[in-house]
Amino acid sequence: MPCLPSDTPLRQQVYLRLRTAIEQGTFAAGSKLPPSREHAKALGVARNTVLWALERLQAEGYVVARVGDGSYVAPDLTALNAPLRRKASAALLPATGLSQRGRLIAETALRWRPPATAVTAYRIGTPAVDAFPFELWSRLERALPARVRQDTAQYLSAAGHKPLREAIAQWLLVSRGIRCDPGQLVVTSGSQQAIDLVARLLLDPGDEVLVEDPGYLGIRNCLLSHGVAACPVPVDEQGLSIADGAARWPNARMAVVTPTHQFPLGVHMGLARRLELLEWARQHKAWVVEDDYDGEFQYGPHRIPALCSLPHSERVLYVGTFSKTLHPGLRLGFIVLPSALVDAFASAKALSDRHSPGAVQEVLARFIADGHLLRHLRRMRELYQQRQGVLIDTLRRASGGVLELTPAAQGMHLVLEAGERVDDMRLSRRAAEAGVYLAPLSQYCVQSRRRGWVFGYAGFDEAALRQAARGLGPLIR
Ligand SMILES: Cc1ncc(COP(=O)(O)O)c(C=O)c1O
Repeated sequence: MPCLPSDTPLRQQVYLRLRTAIEQGTFAAGSKLPPSREHAKALGVARNTVLWALERLQAEGYVVARVGDGSYVAPDLTALNAPLRRKASAALLPATGLSQRGRLIAETALRWRPPATAVTAYRIGTPAVDAFPFELWSRLERALPARVRQDTAQYLSAAGHKPLREAIAQWLLVSRGIRCDPGQLVVTSGSQQAIDLVARLLLDPGDEVLVEDPGYLGIRNCLLSHGVAACPVPVDEQGLSIADGAARWPNARMAVVTPTHQFPLGVHMGLARRLELLEWARQHKAWVVEDDYDGEFQYGPHRIPALCSLPHSERVLYVGTFSKTLHPGLRLGFIVLPSALVDAFASAKALSDRHSPGAVQEVLARFIADGHLLRHLRRMRELYQQRQGVLIDTLRRASGGVLELTPAAQGMHLVLEAGERVDDMRLSRRAAEAGVYLAPLSQYCVQSRRRGWVFGYAGFDEAALRQAARGLGPLIR
């Protein structure tokens, strides 16, 4: 067995052992795995333990089950989007002397990156930093009274600077319909740290968590890096199918969802599905983590409220970020928690980075309280709608009508789905060679076979969108 802490559950040890064997080529791609009964006998464990490990490896894309014919190593681990790569494992292990846990963390990285030559469009999740009011931000910073400067230069509360927690709580009520006390908020370094804290404090290695498939890799990989089983659940036109997830993973202790604007498909979870999800959480005493990454960017007359604003949402942990509303370089986000969890989250945050930077928290608090966030978002909504139009138009023209994106009343990206058999990676690679960043939909999939491309548009002006379309067009026609 791999060298793991002695309290690592047996099924987790079996899982890691099998995964390592696949990564290191002991079981080659496409080869048949030993029958679970024999395998269990050889390891001296119960067959159910092996079956659990196999199911998890299947969920992560390492293993394919063939009905009546046992389990096989996936024929192409790259295409199946397994989170680890054999090459990376082999390279990292001997040279770095990383611990088993360290390897898990180091190797659980995003798999597809644009080559250095790619221009930034159509990168996903980047806001319009070209339209950010840097001058105003600097003015607010310069105007801080000396006393406030000195106060925020001290060690601060790990849960967050009080004025910022107050400003966020007020903002959430107005903008997302969430009623919470500032004392329920913990300010984090973006939503990524919030997810990391959730994994560290509420989950143990081997715990099962329902995640959207396709879904956001930042969350899935964070869970995997903690040894948590990120269990893929299909997404339909209402978002994560909780009935499906509950049936396949009856022991799941948490679900992580993007109910306002599913990442990456862009659907939103209707009321009936939301209530079903809350009822599942109640019955299973499970948590629901709501990642509201771009909920502020809704362009229609009716705003979709946060899941966390519904009655009986006590088991929902709401994660917000300023990465989209302002910019990701700020590294500021927050999590809304039941009061009983706040101290534990603040302690864990303190252990990892003490607290988020004081002066930046103070300026952000003033930015929100003085109404600048409201104004900035009004401008950004207008700008993003306009940019979405440019994206659609330039792509249609440059591809001779082949790339026809459907307008959406939400978000910062659009998805173009293709047939299941389309090799979306291929076009993405060719696009990168032509200098265009184009994320293939398959990179967000585990078991689902959704194929297509995700076009981020919010962060790119007309010239950049035109240039990207000109680069992509000839590859399509
Ligand atoms: C679905 C989703 N959640 C959260 C985030 C934001 O992450 P962070 O707040 O750590 O910058 C992103 C950024 O791209 C995202 O796409």
